Amino acid sequence: MTRDKESTMRSFAYTVIVTVGIVIQSSDENEFTVDLSKRGLTHIPRDLPSQTEVLDMSQNNVSELHLSDMSLISRLKVLRLSHNRIQCLDFSVFRFNQDLEYLDLSHNQLKKLSCHAIQSLQHLDLSFNDFDSLPICKEFGNLTQLNFLGLSTSKLQQLDLLPVSHLHVDSILLDLQGYSMKGNETGSLQIFNTKKLHFVFHPNDLFSVLVNISVNMIECLQLTNIKLNDDNCQVLINFLSEPLIRGPNLLNLTLDHVETTWKCLVRVFQSLWSKPIEYLNIYNLTVVERIDEEEFTYSKTSLKALKIEHITNRVFLFSQTALYTVFSEMNIMMLTISEAPLIHMLCPQAPSMFKFLNFTHNVFTDSIFQNCSTLGRLETLILQKNELKELFKVGLMTKDMQSLEILDVSWNSLNYDRYDGICTWAQSIVMLNLSSNILTESVFRCLPPRVKVLDLHSNRIRSIPRDVNNLEALQVLNVASNFLTNLPGCGAFSSLSALIIDYNSISSPSVDFFQSCQNIRSVKAGNNPFQCTCELREFVQRMGQVSREVVEDWPGSYQCDYPESFKGTALKDFHMSQLSCNTTLLIVTIVVIVLVLGSTTVMLCIYFDVLWYLRMMCHWTQTRQRARNTPLAELQRNLQFHAFISYSEHDSAWVKNELVPCLEKENIRICLHERNFVPGKSIIENIINCIEKSYKSIFVLSPNFVQSEWCHYELYFAHHNLFHEGSDNLILILLEPIPQNNIPSKYHKLKALMTQRTYLEWPKEKSKHGLFWANITAAFHMKLTLVNENDAET
Ligand SMILES: *[C@@H]1O[C@H](CO)[C@@H](O)[C@H](O)[C@H]1NC(C)=O
Repeated sequence: MTRDKESTMRSFAYTVIVTVGIVIQSSDENEFTVDLSKRGLTHIPRDLPSQTEVLDMSQNNVSELHLSDMSLISRLKVLRLSHNRIQCLDFSVFRFNQDLEYLDLSHNQLKKLSCHAIQSLQHLDLSFNDFDSLPICKEFGNLTQLNFLGLSTSKLQQLDLLPVSHLHVDSILLDLQGYSMKGNETGSLQIFNTKKLHFVFHPNDLFSVLVNISVNMIECLQLTNIKLNDDNCQVLINFLSEPLIRGPNLLNLTLDHVETTWKCLVRVFQSLWSKPIEYLNIYNLTVVERIDEEEFTYSKTSLKALKIEHITNRVFLFSQTALYTVFSEMNIMMLTISEAPLIHMLCPQAPSMFKFLNFTHNVFTDSIFQNCSTLGRLETLILQKNELKELFKVGLMTKDMQSLEILDVSWNSLNYDRYDGICTWAQSIVMLNLSSNILTESVFRCLPPRVKVLDLHSNRIRSIPRDVNNLEALQVLNVASNFLTNLPGCGAFSSLSALIIDYNSISSPSVDFFQSCQNIRSVKAGNNPFQCTCELREFVQRMGQVSREVVEDWPGSYQCDYPESFKGTALKDFHMSQLSCNTTLLIVTIVVIVLVLGSTTVMLCIYFDVLWYLRMMCHWTQTRQRARNTPLAELQRNLQFHAFISYSEHDSAWVKNELVPCLEKENIRICLHERNFVPGKSIIENIINCIEKSYKSIFVLSPNFVQSEWCHYELYFAHHNLFHEGSDNLILILLEPIPQNNIPSKYHKLKALMTQRTYLEWPKEKSKHGLFWANITAAFHMKLTLVNENDAET
């Protein structure tokens, strides 16, 4: 009771977690995929979306499946339940899953099945379970769509597979891990129409199959977990001989996880040499005990390709030659030995059949295939991930390989620093992969002359020299991930059609590239630290002009790196105006603008007589300033008038009609000698009196004034400060221009005043009169308390 409750609680908790964690992806074909793998689930959650089509429940703790779990997700097509704890399964739980195509129940603890046909099933994996006998029920005979069937058993009986014998199952996986443990009686099994057959044996047991397996027609056979020593070697050889490999159909044999002695391995090879097998693959080979020289007869064989990937050698002391000879003399076309600790390979003694050799990830050094003239048919040589150092030596190696077209020596430590030596290469090489080495720009002096595809990415090239040997055939050049600072010219590569130069240090690529590389069909230059300044402008324009197919990754991978303000901006969005980038244009523009403005100003000045206005303004400001600075009290002593006006009789019309009315309008009191004359006093006394009682003296200058003697007296008195302190009591008005030479030399005072130009000119233009009057009256803008005429007398 309590336990039930607990489990309910737990499943509730899981349901809650799952609700939160469900990942629903709608893939391209609009399949609803829910991934719930590795979540510690004990049940299939009830709240899955009803449209779920793909459900991954692998690597959980599910121990039971219920009809109610499955019927809610009736549209399910793919169900992955591998690596759970299911012990018992009734297939009728899938009754409502009419679309179920893929059911993976491998790696559970299944012992029993209750059968029910799921018509739609294409892939059924029941391998790696605990079945005692093959879990085949007669209902499986209805699975007409089935193309994969995974099974496991510990017992075999000849006709176990009879119910499915009429089906065309492409691929059968038979897990016999449990079988070899208990196999003490000889069994047999008839396998019908299938193309691929995969047996998995127990990993720790020596290979021993006490079962006769007869196969009709298979094309691919794979055996996993084969442990051999000199004694049981024959068991495998027998297994592979009769009656398994009977027909001419078996073309492909794969052995995976093989542990064997060298002697046994050679025997297996020898036995297969006469079989109709064309492709032999061995993955994860461990060689144990000892390696001695073995006899091998290279009889005529159907074998085309031998591939051995990932070899572990547990033998430490042995003759290298014993090992290499077996391979080097093989009369097959393709040989791959990769991820192996081979330090060398021998040159075949007689002209070899090898067309394809792949020794990826060994420890070959520069001595490999030196002076080897028997590889004349070799077309492809892959020496990726070895310990090659000298590019010069690699070239020399290919000297006699007249058919070599593809050479891959990527991921070595290749360098070329022999500037003197002439590099020798097989003339036939069209594709050379030198990527991931430590080559510098000197590599361009040591390349096969007819190479069409050259991969130099991830090296240390800083520039592409202009004077390189002509590589007229070169069509594809990959120099990505180097330290290049500019795009190359195509002078030496007249056929270049594709250039890959991304991930370099190109900051301002030159546009020459587009001129010199006329045949280019594809450029990939993104992810460089572009400097978004004026130099880049033209390049961006060109990139924008050439068509989209030519520039790869445009615009995404092309971004400004500098200046900081543009960092991350896509080049296509980077714009700078023509003006800001062309210095001459900029200077010309500025000069023109300055000239135009200057001349306009001058013309305006002349037209509006601006200078006159300026002078007047200046005068006016100074006067106001002075008026403000002079203490009032000082001025007020005995003053009766604001101004005394001295003028020539000839100018009296202007004085009386213009000056006086204008001043008096402003409440400025004027002392005119003829108006305010005190009778009985001499003229000179009157003048002095008038000057003395006035705050300022205004002199109206004109050629007439110069002629008048009296006026000079007046000017003299006023100027000489006879009556007032302060020298700013004079206001000179130039009514008409006075030519300098008209002023008699004795009036040097007047001359001096005239040269100082401290007078106000009477403007002819009416429009300027306002400012003129303002200037005059400004001199009187202060609060003066004038003494009345009569008061002064007393
Ligand atoms: C050159 O080899 C590298 C890896 O070793 C590979 O990624 C690249 O695609 C190869 N280049 C060509 C042109 O095949």
